Amino acid sequence: MERRLILIADDDVDALRLVGLMLERQGYAITVAANGHQAVERALEMQPALIILDVMMPDMDGYAVATQLRHHPATESIPILMFTARAAVSDRLAGLQAGVDDYLTKPIRPQELIARVETLLERQTHPREEPAHGKVVGFLPTKGGIGTSTLALNTAIELMHMHKDTTAALVELQEGNAVLALHMGLDTPSEVTAGLPALYEKPLAQLTATTVRQALIKHESGVRALLASPEPAGTGPVGDRAYVRAIVRYLRIDYDYVVLDLPARLGDPQKEALSLCSQVILTVEPNRVGVALANSMITALESLGVPRQATRAVLIHRAPASGTISRTMVEQMIRLEMIAAIPPVPDLAYASIQNGKPIIEMQPQSLVSQQIRRVVQAIAED
Ligand SMILES: Nc1ncnc2c1ncn2[C@@H]1O[C@H](COP(=O)(O)OP(=O)(O)O)[C@@H](O)[C@H]1O
Ligand SMILES: [Mg+2]
Repeated sequence: MERRLILIADDDVDALRLVGLMLERQGYAITVAANGHQAVERALEMQPALIILDVMMPDMDGYAVATQLRHHPATESIPILMFTARAAVSDRLAGLQAGVDDYLTKPIRPQELIARVETLLERQTHPREEPAHGKVVGFLPTKGGIGTSTLALNTAIELMHMHKDTTAALVELQEGNAVLALHMGLDTPSEVTAGLPALYEKPLAQLTATTVRQALIKHESGVRALLASPEPAGTGPVGDRAYVRAIVRYLRIDYDYVVLDLPARLGDPQKEALSLCSQVILTVEPNRVGVALANSMITALESLGVPRQATRAVLIHRAPASGTISRTMVEQMIRLEMIAAIPPVPDLAYASIQNGKPIIEMQPQSLVSQQIRRVVQAIAED
C-alpha cells in the first residue's frame, strides 16, 4: 500500500525530527514545514492525508494556518491535529473555531500521537469533501496541426448530447497559440484573457472553486471552456503541476466530463494532466511520420506510467492523399486500439473556422460527425 503522507509544521526543529521519527516508524511518509506560510504552501502542493500543526510559530500561528486551510477547497477537508504546550480551554476553543479536528498537548507521548493520528485518518475514509466525480479525458496530439483541438472541441460538445443532463468542460491546456476561442466563434480578447492564463497568474492559494468557475466561458452548445492565450507560446504564464491539479480537481466536481486539449509535448504540466486522465486519446496521422511519432509518444506515455489500456488512438486524415497507410495497418504498427478515423473535410473545416461554428453543429449527420460520435461512445463506455 502507498504510504500516507503527513505534513508536520513546527518552528522547533527538534520537535519536527522527533514527531517525524515516531510517525515514520509507523510507516507514514513525512513532509515538514518550519513556519506557518510554508505549512499552507506545502499543504496545497502536496495534499497530505493529515496535517499536524504547532500553535506557536513566529510568522503565522497554528490557528491562522488552520483557518486558511479550511477556506481553501483543496485543503478544507484534510484533518488537522494541533500541538499545544498549553491545555487551556480557551486555546481549544480557538482551535475548534479555526477548524482543528483534534489536540495533543506537549510533551508528546508516542502512543497518544499514533492513536490520534490513526483515529483522524480513519474518520477521513468518510470524507466530507464533495466527490470529484467527473471523468477526465485527454486529447494528446502526436504532432501539431493535425486537427486535435478540433476533435477535442467537437467531442466535448457531443458528449453533452448523450443525455439531457450531461455536462462537459473543455480545457485548452496550451501554453499559447490558442485557437479554440476562434473555433467557438469568440473573438473578444477580454473573454479570452479571462481564462487559463489569468488563473496561472494568481497565487496558488487564490485558486479556488469560485475563481476557476469564473474563468470559464460558456459556449452556445452548453460546453464550458477554459481557454488558453492566443499569444505565442513561450510569452505567457505557464502553470506548474499544482495549478493543473487544482484546476482539474475543481472542474471534476462540477462536470461529468473534463476534456483536455493538450499540446504535443510532455512537460511537467502535461505530465500532471495525463496522470489525472482516465483516458488518453492520441491523434495519429496515417503516414510514416505520423506512425513514428505515435510510437515514440506511446513509449513515452508508458514510461510516465500511463497504461496502454488507458490510451486509445484516433486516426486523423486531414488532407486527402492517395497512398496513406490504412487504418488496420496503422493499428498494427502502433499496437493500439483505433476508436475512430476522421476523414478529410477541408471545406467543412474551413467553413467551420470562418463561421466560428463547430463541425458537429454545422453538419451533424456528416461522416466526420459520425466518427466524432464514435469517439464519444468509446469515452462513455469506458
Ligand atoms: N478532418 C479534417 N479535415 C480537414 N481539415 C481539418 C480537419 N480537422 C481539422 N482541420 C483543420 O486543420 C487545422 C488545424 O486544426 P487544429 O484542430 O487546430 O489542429 P491541432 O490542434 O492538431 O494543431 C484547422 O484549420 C482545422 O480546421
Ligand atoms: Mg491544437
